[in-house]
Amino acid sequence: SQILSNSDLKKMVDTSDEWIEKRTGIKERRIASAEEATSDLGVKAALIAIERAGIDAKEIDLIICATLSPDHLCMPSTACVIAGKLGINDVMAFDISAACSGFVYMLSMAKAYIESGMKKNILLIGAEKISSVVDYTDRGTCILFGDGAGAAIIGATEDKNEAILDIHASADGRYGDLLITPGCGSKFPCSQETLDNKLNFIKMQGNDVYKIAVKTLTNDVIDILEKNNLESSQIDHFIPHQANFRIIEAVRAKLNFPIEKTVLTVAKYGNTSAASIPMAMNDAYEEGRIKRGDLMLLDTFGGGFTWASALVRFGGK
Ligand code: COA
Repeated sequence: SQILSNSDLKKMVDTSDEWIEKRTGIKERRIASAEEATSDLGVKAALIAIERAGIDAKEIDLIICATLSPDHLCMPSTACVIAGKLGINDVMAFDISAACSGFVYMLSMAKAYIESGMKKNILLIGAEKISSVVDYTDRGTCILFGDGAGAAIIGATEDKNEAILDIHASADGRYGDLLITPGCGSKFPCSQETLDNKLNFIKMQGNDVYKIAVKTLTNDVIDILEKNNLESSQIDHFIPHQANFRIIEAVRAKLNFPIEKTVLTVAKYGNTSAASIPMAMNDAYEEGRIKRGDLMLLDTFGGGFTWASALVRFGGK
């Protein structure tokens, strides 16, 4: 509900509107209220997805939530909390942890569940109250992130115009320390010392992350296009993770995606981690840009490091 602008951040840390916009393309981000948890944002997105899919919530037989800012550290999972709030009381529900790549990671799980016939209607939610793990005295990170949620229903279909064509998801744990919330897990359990050292907040080596992100996001797209015998000109919508306009621009230019076909929301929401891709997809849909059967290329990268890309035909009604 609240908008945190670059001018607001200027009052909190030593930065400027110009610096943030030039280095990241971000103008503002949304911040949830103190009363709202990640699940509340997820429920709002889920209700819209359920309505647009035209199904009854009771038809949902799997709920997965991707988040790095769950309502509770250990349990219950945010997916379970969301299920309870939606009144779906007998359903498989769990969270996944893949940072900003979470939405595409769980899309690959949904594809496998649907194609194996194990599930029929899957609710995927990428939701983050990332402001709860951001240190608003660290100018290297607090300018980047924002809260938000996006959701999708993935259902069984015989229609090739609704197919999830291919997904590539991977990780390289060697880079884990470059983007990390070090504390309040089993390694450094929550204690006064952990909190005093701010280990419960996101720590990032921005410059290193930047370079690896550009390389990985680019290579991932080259791989998935080659594997599917597609040219970038055949993609209707390039929907990259909204971390930094400069990262998106470097990848877009290298791969020859026209700017008109690239979905950009980073200026108004910042980096919303697992919610970034479904929120971008939603904005493009609400602007009337995405139509049924359009070929979307999703491309994401995040802490872990994790990364993933997907070729998806939009099957929305
Ligand atoms: N305002 C003003 N100055 C800032 C600043 C801020 N918010 N943050 C850092 N600086 C300063 C640095 O202290 C440094 O100053 P110095 O030269 O005096 O030492 C200078 O700006 C350059 O810092 P650097 O870190 O090299 O800047 P950058 O061009 O790499 O931009 C990021 C910083 C964070 C915007 C950029 O590295 C980035 O976007 N990285 C990727 C982050 C990301 O996407 N993470 C999530 C991945 S899913």
